[in-house]
Amino acid sequence: MTWCVSSMRPFPGCLDRLRAEINAAVPDRSTPITHAAVRELPYLNAVINESQRLRPISPHGMSRIVPKEGVMLGGYFIPGGTTILASIKTLQEDKNVFPDPMAFKPERWLADESTVATMKRSLIPFQIGPRACIGRVLAMMEMRLTIAELVRHFAFEIPPHLQTDMTPVNRFIYRPKDNKYVVLPHRID
Ligand code: HEM
Repeated sequence: MTWCVSSMRPFPGCLDRLRAEINAAVPDRSTPITHAAVRELPYLNAVINESQRLRPISPHGMSRIVPKEGVMLGGYFIPGGTTILASIKTLQEDKNVFPDPMAFKPERWLADESTVATMKRSLIPFQIGPRACIGRVLAMMEMRLTIAELVRHFAFEIPPHLQTDMTPVNRFIYRPKDNKYVVLPHRID
């Protein structure tokens, strides 16, 4: 959530567009948002995808040990017992799949179906395979609901004396360099 808000905040247009989408989907602000109402919102999902792409919680994911018979991977034979790792961050910053890879651009997820399908194959914040994150569906629900509620009710201000260094640092999970993110939420309704 921290990374999602901190990624959007420098782009007021992004927050405005998201807020407009949420307000159109759930016009009555006194009604709590249900997951069914926001699950398919294109821009909300685009923002979450883009935030998870650039700030995956686990930037390199978990390693694996090759079974004793070895395995062929991408044309290479990897001997049994070798520890291997498919880095989440490296895949998600591949410029061949994500042009201008280090830029936060939710709009890239609104491209044509085939481009988005290619990007989705390289978006693996929960890893893939039999040991992928067991909580991914719940996590996506929580993110959609929390971000939608936050953005529809609040604007986010950071007074200069509360600025923190948000450079991501890999401390097994991605954390801001200063280990914290301080925002002042202002109710807007
Ligand atoms: C944005 C939120 C989350 C992200 C990005 C995330 C990411 C990950 C990643 C990368 C792994 C390692 C998968 C692998 O080794 O292939 C993992 C494993 C796991 N996650 Fe999550 N996770 C999130 C939320 C959750 C939640 C909400 C739960 C539980 C309710 C959860 C439960 C687990 C469990 C139990 C594993 C171990 C699975 C296994 O080893 O079989 N995660 N998660």
